[in-house]
Amino acid sequence: MARVSAPPPRSLDTWTATWIEPVEPDDGCKLQRPAHHLATEFRVERPVRSATLRITAHGVYEAFLNGARIGDHELTPGFTAYRKRLQVQTFDVTALVAPGANALGALLSDGWWRGQHGIARRTDSYGETTALLAELHLRFESGDEAVVPTDGTWRSTPSHILGADLVAGEVHDLRRRVRGWAEPGTDRSAWAPVRVAGPGFETLCAPIGPPSRRVQELPAVSVRELAPRRHVVDFGQNSHGWIRLTDLGPAGTTLTITHGEALDASGDVTQHNVEHSQLAPPRAFHVPFQTDVVTSAGDGSPFEPRHSTKGFRYVRIEGHPGPLDPASITSVVVHTDLRRVGGFACSDERVNRLHAAAEWSFRGNACELPTDCPTRERSGWTGDWQIYVATAAYLYDVVDFSVKWLHDLAAEQRPDGAVLHIVPDPHDFERDEQDFWRDSQGSAGWGDAAVHVPWELHLANGRTDFLAPQLESMRRWVDFAAGRAAAGRHPDRAAARPEPLPHERYLWDSGFHFGEWLEPGIPIADEFRRILTMDHGPTATAYLYRSADELSRIAALVGEHVTHEKYAALAANVRDAWRTEFLDGDGHVRPATQANLVRALAFGLVPDELRPSAADDLVARIRAAGTHLGTGFLATPFLLPVLADHGHLDVAYELLFQDTEPSWLVMIDRGATTIWEQWEGVSADGTVAASLNHYSKGAVISFLHRYVAGLQLVEPGYRRFRVSPRPGGGITHARTHHDSPHGRIEIAWRLEGDEGTIDVAVPPGAEAELLLPDGHAEPLAAGRHHRSWRSR
Ligand code: BGC
Repeated sequence: MARVSAPPPRSLDTWTATWIEPVEPDDGCKLQRPAHHLATEFRVERPVRSATLRITAHGVYEAFLNGARIGDHELTPGFTAYRKRLQVQTFDVTALVAPGANALGALLSDGWWRGQHGIARRTDSYGETTALLAELHLRFESGDEAVVPTDGTWRSTPSHILGADLVAGEVHDLRRRVRGWAEPGTDRSAWAPVRVAGPGFETLCAPIGPPSRRVQELPAVSVRELAPRRHVVDFGQNSHGWIRLTDLGPAGTTLTITHGEALDASGDVTQHNVEHSQLAPPRAFHVPFQTDVVTSAGDGSPFEPRHSTKGFRYVRIEGHPGPLDPASITSVVVHTDLRRVGGFACSDERVNRLHAAAEWSFRGNACELPTDCPTRERSGWTGDWQIYVATAAYLYDVVDFSVKWLHDLAAEQRPDGAVLHIVPDPHDFERDEQDFWRDSQGSAGWGDAAVHVPWELHLANGRTDFLAPQLESMRRWVDFAAGRAAAGRHPDRAAARPEPLPHERYLWDSGFHFGEWLEPGIPIADEFRRILTMDHGPTATAYLYRSADELSRIAALVGEHVTHEKYAALAANVRDAWRTEFLDGDGHVRPATQANLVRALAFGLVPDELRPSAADDLVARIRAAGTHLGTGFLATPFLLPVLADHGHLDVAYELLFQDTEPSWLVMIDRGATTIWEQWEGVSADGTVAASLNHYSKGAVISFLHRYVAGLQLVEPGYRRFRVSPRPGGGITHARTHHDSPHGRIEIAWRLEGDEGTIDVAVPPGAEAELLLPDGHAEPLAAGRHHRSWRSR
């Protein structure tokens, strides 16, 4: 029985509770370790006015009071830069407290704390033990208070979850459930007393942003019996979460449930596209990967594994005697519970499916942090989020979700200002011996997330409160990049021009960069070799310019005038250096790749008078590729907007509707329900390569919002916006909405013959400017408006 002491402390660094650890055998297997129950009992002898639980863990916990699960959050305490920040959840549990005997407990598994993570599938990154810290605060009707803390009186026992790892999956034996483990009156004498661990309160912090929840359920669209006791279930949608299975067969039946994004030629689930991680250590034995194993208790109790997640559209169930009723299995979609703020639809079904796939890719990568993919790595790759954040912010309120991550980014920035490739990064850089990983941090286009993510968040919703706290992190990043530019030279440049020219101190052509990353035709394995030797000067210098410029604007917004001027001057010098080095004598961008041309135009690197010829050069490259895109991760979001902004709307639409490789519609035509990592994700013969759920290329849907439907932001938070639909590609109607801080903006247009009509809703406090395809322009005040035009 836990002691009930008073009064409760309030601040996150003062606790009555101590960290407690379950007692577990040291059996050496770190890839899928058992989850433990930890519990205590206490008595309530007086009427309770309110009861509040604050709780966190080294691992992932589910908390229970008197047998009932507390709250609807999933995967708590969530994932943060644990060495610096660990979130503490607070739950109102007044309704669960009973007079007399009570029991408080938690189910604790490895989670991100010590389970596998990332490209290297590391384990024990933050510690070798799991632990729980909790305090139940009771306020009595009489006005006095008491606290039930985690302490040495708690006891622990292994649960029926014999293995749980976020990447590997779970092993449940439902026959071994511990009856009444979190209920009062249960005999826990056979349980082990917990180990009381050391202090460690200095990293505790309040959560920022919404928690993860089970946000949607998808029914099975088909169940096929491939062979006796081998069923394949299709949910029709690639997503992130887990399954719930209610038909587990008779007692003792063991089912193996393998999750994958694709089927192989025989119609069976394959994991080969995402199972292996290039940097993971070779293992001499088979390592389970997003695979659950469950043994039925035969009592109708369902299986729902809430201590691991999977990226999947299909599952294979082995061991079920059949028949397997599709109604008995559900895909449970799990991610951060973000408020939806935008939508889009148009007359073309394939385009609508592309939009849906890009949105699902974001949702598949929005559990606790913005990740690259929900399968192979599940890491907060900085580049991916800086590419997609503006697109996501149109559809969901991602401000607090991102601010939480930016705190982690700043907390993990290297002493020299380098931003890590992935945030949070489980590597302990103080101790880690992997030189390559340590020395490669700080890539252009990835580290720039430090500046670009806050900038886009501000544009999207006008908030400034999070900017000043991030300013130091932004400054450190830009100083790092500028310092690298000044100090290093690419060997090819040094060989060609032994004496550096003055502008070269602003050229960032040294250090490790991912570069444009995954342009069509380059498989990931080759890409890694290629980028190590390339001159990334055109790309990295462009990003240094954009970040210095955005930092100077942000500094102005928060009243830091010296910083504003300093980085405005840096931006001008970097832009001039870029022009000196990467525009040839005739004013053409060099090297003239699609990516370089698009970036130069999108970032404002090309002088105004040269923009038309640069746009013509871009179109020439696109035509030379048979009207195909040639951009990779970084430049793809800007491709169609740059074409539309420079008089080539027709080419933008030709690329949007291109349906031979490489193109977005190839994905849709080959059945994609999320966006592929590589342009060649699924080949014509159905061979699957790499992840099928990476959102970056899906940023093209911003073109649908801004150009097809025509909602263009003019002032942060849409206080002023432009309504400027640019019909094309045979689309006959389109609509979009966005819930701005001022209220809902709506645009819907329709073309019938050569007559166009448009309906616009401008919320109070906002102003709009209407620009119709026939050139008609007028200001629109708050309210609803209907206009028409005639196409010429
Ligand atoms: C990830 C990416 C990431 C990249 C770095 C990959 O393995 O999945 O999305 O940005 O590495 O270029």
